Amino acid sequence: QLTEAELIERVEDVKAKMGRKLFLPGHHYQKDEVIRFADARGDSLKLAQISARQSEAEAIVFCGVHFMAETADILTRPDQEVFLPDMRAGCSMADMADLTQTEKAWEKLLELFDDTILPLTYVNSTAAIKSFVGLHEGATVTSSNAEEMVSWAFSQKERILFLPDQHLGRNTAYNLGVPLKQMAVWDPIAETLLYEGAMEDIKVILWKGHCSVHENFTVQNVKQIRRQYADMTIIVHPECRREVVAIADDAGSTNHIIQTINNAPAGTSWAIGTEMNLVKRIIKEHPDKHIVSLNPNMCPCLTMNRIDLPHLAWCLETVEKGEPHNTIKVDPAIAFHAKKALERMLARV
Ligand code: 13P
Ligand code: SF4
Repeated sequence: QLTEAELIERVEDVKAKMGRKLFLPGHHYQKDEVIRFADARGDSLKLAQISARQSEAEAIVFCGVHFMAETADILTRPDQEVFLPDMRAGCSMADMADLTQTEKAWEKLLELFDDTILPLTYVNSTAAIKSFVGLHEGATVTSSNAEEMVSWAFSQKERILFLPDQHLGRNTAYNLGVPLKQMAVWDPIAETLLYEGAMEDIKVILWKGHCSVHENFTVQNVKQIRRQYADMTIIVHPECRREVVAIADDAGSTNHIIQTINNAPAGTSWAIGTEMNLVKRIIKEHPDKHIVSLNPNMCPCLTMNRIDLPHLAWCLETVEKGEPHNTIKVDPAIAFHAKKALERMLARV
């Protein structure tokens, strides 16, 4: 077993040898031991866009989760290869919508609403779901452009199907003025539309998926923070439940949270409702502010954490030796329509 110092040396060695032929994007939720080596850090969209601009890179070793690496593969040239240091780094939310379930739902929804629905998918979804959405004239969205993309969708069709995160879909539509009573939930297990009103009133159909990390921030956590600290501002990610977002002081994407804290005056107090590695990093970077996690259990993303220093060092060495494992290659037929969904978004943001 190698020591931490030896692993660091290996990573630095490969980076030095490969130079600009290698590009390492790192998501904000990655561990410090990994993100310190990233050539660029950002949210999933920013990293995919940056990867796509790396004209000299032959190998992109993605420090994030599977759907992000797939997106990078879809947006890069065919001669550029994308690798994921640990193939078990998936996303439980992305896994909550598979293609067969989505096709069944779509068939049922077309029966109910004819041709009045446009599908949108959060980028936190598999390439197959992006492809389905692209094929049906829809687009991807991210947490930072969701309002813009949902507004666009309503300029195209009367209703939207929002995959796979019900919370981001609900929070976004609510902010745009859609009342909660006009939102239905599609349950992919029961294959049923959960809704009590008249069908023609439905404007938004939310896929019953969620982020297992952000669902851990509760109304109880908010109340506890308010009891404990009088002057604390609570900021959460829109993957949190509606009732949490409703009583928080602010909600926004990973990027919005980082920028808000960066711009906050010294001496201010913050409780943040998002993934643990990012919250810990923000705390470290702002010793002049009082910052805590909204949930005292901190809420790690277990799959993001699967990318660690040993996996990174191993993956880089295999790439450098020309004997790579863990290649992320999206089937070209799937990539074709998935790219259309991504491009419809990229053209607007
Ligand atoms: P962003 O990358 O869009 O900030 O989303 C947060 C997240 O949950 C990533 O998995
Ligand atoms: Fe998926 Fe949530 Fe982890 Fe992001 S934080 S990778 S949405 S499980």
